[in-house]
Amino acid sequence: MTEKIRVAVLYGGKSGEHEVSLQSAASVIQHLDRDRFDVIPISIDKQGKWQWNDLRLIEEAKGRALPIFGDAPEMRLSPQADGRAALLPVTGSAANPRQIDVVFPVMHGPLCEDGAVQGALELAGVAYVGAGVLGSAIGMDKDIAKRLALFAGLPVLPYLALAKRDYERDPARWVQAVREKLTLPVFVKPCNMGSSVGVHKVKQWEALEAALQDAFLYDLKVLVEQGIDVREIEVAVLEGEPLFTSVASEINANPKHEFYSYEAKYLDQDGATVDLPAKLDAAQMERVRQLANDAFVALECSGLARVDFFLDRRGGDFYFNEINTLPGFTSISMYPKMMEASGLPYRELLSRLIELALEKQARKHGLKTDYQDQL
Ligand SMILES: Nc1ncnc2c1ncn2[C@@H]1O[C@H](COP(=O)(O)OP(=O)(O)O)[C@@H](O)[C@H]1O
Ligand SMILES: [Mg+2]
Repeated sequence: MTEKIRVAVLYGGKSGEHEVSLQSAASVIQHLDRDRFDVIPISIDKQGKWQWNDLRLIEEAKGRALPIFGDAPEMRLSPQADGRAALLPVTGSAANPRQIDVVFPVMHGPLCEDGAVQGALELAGVAYVGAGVLGSAIGMDKDIAKRLALFAGLPVLPYLALAKRDYERDPARWVQAVREKLTLPVFVKPCNMGSSVGVHKVKQWEALEAALQDAFLYDLKVLVEQGIDVREIEVAVLEGEPLFTSVASEINANPKHEFYSYEAKYLDQDGATVDLPAKLDAAQMERVRQLANDAFVALECSGLARVDFFLDRRGGDFYFNEINTLPGFTSISMYPKMMEASGLPYRELLSRLIELALEKQARKHGLKTDYQDQL
């Protein structure tokens, strides 16, 4: 029998989406193909500590969310010459360091999905699932993502990005700039958040300053974007030759919410319904899948991404909104559901993502890492 691939599932994380990660990772661990993979659960707690949790204890706990055991040994990843990493205890020496072939980061939000954790994995020299440092960082910054999308010819709604320092020096000037460029309603949103935290729909200019002030509580950069009457369409993308794009789905926020707000997403049981596939005609479906394909390429993604679009109810045009490089991964999350609806079941999807990470590592392994002037 060939040796199994050792997959470290990284979960938790020092982010506001810690709890979502515990659920996503529980589902990933449950569904990974055990004939092919050995699972090593590594948690990151809310203080940022990495711990190696006992898989047996985790499986006994059988929860919908993974536990983090307080007394689990604190670990670090150390690079090895062969493109693997060794899992070593932070204190004392390991009698038997565990080998890791590939890491599957199942975490969301700042520090987890923005290139920070990906940087730590690069330093450890280990293969990992999903976007690299650059793609992750781009995906987390709505301003940079939109600029690159625009540069690639993707449709993006008009917006202004405001830096907190500039805004605070002269708020009236920036309010004026917004009023000259955009019409009501406008959406105000922190540049690097998610889950609609700090997002405001502004319907009167008098309300703009308060919305900006609130958004600046969460971020040093805030976008003010043209508001339109939208349908919200999402596409799942998987790396491959060619890229694989799923059928699109549509999120219908309950009309009692002004938009797909934090409350609609997490607090209201009836906050939204999903159409999978989205009720689009064939030309629209083809168009949005092509746009998702192009966004994946333009934004330097690898492995997987969920790309979110707005469809203007009036004009009928699609606009790129944002990209999620580590989307929610419970078996009822949109990314795996869209893949499943497109013919790729959850277990196979997980296997494919791990293969892609190993293939990328093998390609990187062939690159020179030193340079000697031979002239
Ligand atoms: N320009 C816009 N026009 C209409 N609705 C918008 C616009 N921007 C955001 N929204 C609404 O706000 C929600 C959250 O905004 P989004 O940019 O997706 O941020 P987040 O990263 O928090 O999900 C969207 O799902 C949508 O319902
Ligand atoms: Mg969104």
